[in-house]
Amino acid sequence: MAELILNSDKLTIDCESGQTILDASLKKGIPHAHACGGKAVCSTCRVYIDEGLENVNPRNEKEQKLADSLNFGPEIRLACQTTIYGPVKARRLVLDKIDERIILSEGKSNKPRSLGEVIDASVMFVDIADFTAFSERTPAYDVVHVLNRYFYIAGNIIKKHNGRIVDYYGDGFLAIFGLDHQPNHTKNVVSAGFELQKAIKDFDHEVHDLVNTSFKIRLGAHTGKVIWGSIGIEGMRKEAAIGDTVNFASRIEQANKVLNTDFLISEALFKKFESCCVTNAEYEIDVKGKTGVYKVYSLEYVSPSVLAETV
Ligand code: FES
Repeated sequence: MAELILNSDKLTIDCESGQTILDASLKKGIPHAHACGGKAVCSTCRVYIDEGLENVNPRNEKEQKLADSLNFGPEIRLACQTTIYGPVKARRLVLDKIDERIILSEGKSNKPRSLGEVIDASVMFVDIADFTAFSERTPAYDVVHVLNRYFYIAGNIIKKHNGRIVDYYGDGFLAIFGLDHQPNHTKNVVSAGFELQKAIKDFDHEVHDLVNTSFKIRLGAHTGKVIWGSIGIEGMRKEAAIGDTVNFASRIEQANKVLNTDFLISEALFKKFESCCVTNAEYEIDVKGKTGVYKVYSLEYVSPSVLAETV
């Protein structure tokens, strides 16, 4: 006998050794989704093994194929293919018809969907100073033209440093470094920030006469754990970065306005480059939703050659 505790249903089930989780669950009367009838095709029977992964069979070929295509971590198993041999604590991940529809719509997408993972990454928020005033006094065509030109330049710089713009907020954007296990993300975020600042100075010369305004960007960067996953419904889904590291980077960027600075980084990021960073000030800021005060550093210069050798 093997014991299966289904945390999602607050039930303990006595199973035969070698019985599949799906079979045990259905026999207990649980409405366990199994849209393909247990053929390892639909993935709606998926469960998360909270404890006892060592007491289930390894993935068979069919399950492995589906798990690879859906980026399942080792704890996410197909209940129809997973047999148990000892105590296991698990939970169903598809609890109702809405969940089932979401999962089945994933199958229609050509793009693999990230189900959510915690990654080490560096995060940078960038916005254009005083853009609202500019957009209010400038014809819409010129606003969009200038923004597209700006995002073209910025996007290519982010890409060059192995980062990715993952969200746009009007004139601002969020870039992540370290996706797809890219190494050296702390170095990349800092070098991208400096190159952006330089490029926007040139951009300012190019468009200043055209739109009669000066462009300056403000940057805020931090490094830490980020939740990365695919959010939204079919046709309106996007990959998103979530969590404290992202929120904190956003607050740091916003602090530029109050402190009259251009490029602020967190203490965690600063510590990576202490020896080669030139800072022009150090501040302590309050962060909404967090207790205490946090040190941030206004970056003035980092030697590219020293930076290249760091990390
Ligand atoms: S029931 Fe379809 S994959 Fe398990």
